[in-house]
Amino acid sequence: MNPQDIKEILYTKEDLDETVSRMAAQINENYKGKKLVVVTILKGACIFMCDLVRKLDLDVEMDFMIVSSYGSQAKSSGVVRIVKDLDQDITGKDVLIVEDIIDTGLTLKYLVKNLKSRNPASVHVAALLLKDLGNQLQPKYLGKVCPNEFVVGYGLDYDERYRNLPYIGILDEKVYSQDQDAEE
Ligand code: PRP
Repeated sequence: MNPQDIKEILYTKEDLDETVSRMAAQINENYKGKKLVVVTILKGACIFMCDLVRKLDLDVEMDFMIVSSYGSQAKSSGVVRIVKDLDQDITGKDVLIVEDIIDTGLTLKYLVKNLKSRNPASVHVAALLLKDLGNQLQPKYLGKVCPNEFVVGYGLDYDERYRNLPYIGILDEKVYSQDQDAEE
């Protein structure tokens, strides 16, 4: 990739490590002596989850979901389709949903409601980033409130690219404006 694609680095590898360690310490404290089912929402949250679970001193089970929004305007429709569901029954279990970013919050709103309907002991959310929009669901465990910009890296993508960057940065507009031009 071209380093110029990233306009500004928001969180370095070190910032992220510190943030994930802080979140893990809170989770370790709150679930002491308990078993936890960590539910990762693919794909964006996978890198965050891998770092987070390795800092947990708990009995952890890992499960994964893939969700997709309906329709082209789906981000704002709030209707989510489950593409891959959990492998396990979560009845009576403590569940932690792991997300990379809360944007409109609609994905998580749907997921929390859906998982709560399965009668778990508890459902909470750990989100690395919350876009600074002010009105979304507040996760119990939050990494950073981030500016309302196009952020990539550490699992976050643009058109499936940049997920492998070890840091999180703001994507330069020219990257997506070029693609928009090409579509027209
Ligand atoms: C991103 C992110 C969340 C969702 C948040 O996933 O990982 O799941 O969008 O958006 P919302 O708060 O507006 O609902 P995306 O659909 O980009 O898929 P990906 O994780 O596979 O990149």
